[in-house]
Amino acid sequence: MVAARITVNGKETPISPAPAHTTVLDFLRERGLTGTKEGCAEGECGACSVLVARPGVDRPTDWVAVNACLVPVAALDGQEVVTSEGLATADASGTPAVLHPVQEEMAVRGGSQCGFCTPGFICSMASEYYRPDRCAHADRADGSGSGSEHGPNGFDLHALSGNLCRCTGYRPIRDAAYAVGTPTEDDPLAQRREQSPPEPAATAYTQDDSAFLRPGTLADAVRLLRERPDAVVVAGSTDWGVEVNIRSRRANCVVAVDRLPELRALHVGSDHIEIGAAQTLTEIERRLDGAVPLLAELFPQFASRLIRNSATLGGNLGTGSPIGDSPPVLLALEASLVLADADGEREVPLCDYFTGYRQSVRRPGELIRAVRVPLPLSPVTAFHKIAKRRFDDISSVAVAFALDIEDGTVRKARIGLGGVAATPIRALATEAALEGEPWTERTAEAAARVLRAEGTPMDDHRASAGYRTAMLGQSLLKLYARTTEAVPS
Ligand code: FES
Ligand code: FES
Repeated sequence: MVAARITVNGKETPISPAPAHTTVLDFLRERGLTGTKEGCAEGECGACSVLVARPGVDRPTDWVAVNACLVPVAALDGQEVVTSEGLATADASGTPAVLHPVQEEMAVRGGSQCGFCTPGFICSMASEYYRPDRCAHADRADGSGSGSEHGPNGFDLHALSGNLCRCTGYRPIRDAAYAVGTPTEDDPLAQRREQSPPEPAATAYTQDDSAFLRPGTLADAVRLLRERPDAVVVAGSTDWGVEVNIRSRRANCVVAVDRLPELRALHVGSDHIEIGAAQTLTEIERRLDGAVPLLAELFPQFASRLIRNSATLGGNLGTGSPIGDSPPVLLALEASLVLADADGEREVPLCDYFTGYRQSVRRPGELIRAVRVPLPLSPVTAFHKIAKRRFDDISSVAVAFALDIEDGTVRKARIGLGGVAATPIRALATEAALEGEPWTERTAEAAARVLRAEGTPMDDHRASAGYRTAMLGQSLLKLYARTTEAVPS
């Protein structure tokens, strides 16, 4: 097996002797690339953002911005990374001499004061700059590139939702984002998009008795997990990276499953949609392109673009957190999980999956291979995430609705809840209170009273039990108001 190595700003570098838990951020900084900063080390500030060449959605390769503080460098064995230093054009001596267009706009529009956050903003902005389907809204047939969160150049401000700045203020940064043009034909990173992405390397990286392993196939992965029941399974490492950095957790063996082809498919069939567990949330969002409105409503509220570029549905379900944002939505969609191990596969309805706080029916050695969403979809849907910040925050309460309403009567109701029990739950009593009833204010108010009694909310630093209870009821009333509000003439 070839020794693990990573290409940074065009230069191939061996990963050894870095310990297996070393993050991309630490790896870069220890090699002098100190533009990449550590602010929080838990995926919340974006100071560590770098670009990674990944399989593209519309072109062979996309330049995807990720949080370098969360990703183990061994996870990028064989991959290509570009940092803020690598974006500028170097002179003959290798010194950055000509600013990248994104850097130029940030400089001339006053987008940087102390500069700590700037390299991270630059990488997130560059990822959006190179997004193949970004274009000025006048160029788009449906005009959807315009709007309060898109610039006239099609720049989606959500690209910066994972980057914090504490001194410049965001207006000059937004001005810079909305001023960037389109890449020229001779732009090397634009040209790189037309070539194949790096193949995922089957990695066996061991250092000081701890190993980072990337099996090449699902069969190899489940065999390995049977042999190593102590292994920590990672995909985007957005959860494990926090454990490593903030709680100083270490594992003897980490197994990466994010590039397994069997976990990377997305298939729309006649009676269900199957989403590979290792598709990133950004990939799902772009591939489904609104085909599942409830998921389309979820994605912008799930952490930040930087996190969504790495996080997967499999990871969000696998950690079993009661405040993960995808379980309430997938419960309302009546999703099921395809679990795989060395003996084969089985399908488990998501409503039967969680068994206790961070516990599930998933057996040791089993992987989540895919998520299945049955078709047809219920037409009335909503996802209400109640959190202290609009973006890049953790839910206090999350409520997802999927209702079939025919001739003014609720024929079917599915409601998923997060943050009100030890596991994500279905609001079964509320569903029963709605089904068969006319969709009226009286029904909504009666069902809201039932919904307030669902779960066992508790007080914590995010919200009180009373607040959570109140928000449950308000959520249903809000849905009712939205579905019945008069359309302005
Ligand atoms: Fe804050 Fe990585 S250092 S997101
Ligand atoms: Fe100082 Fe952003 S320029 S934190």
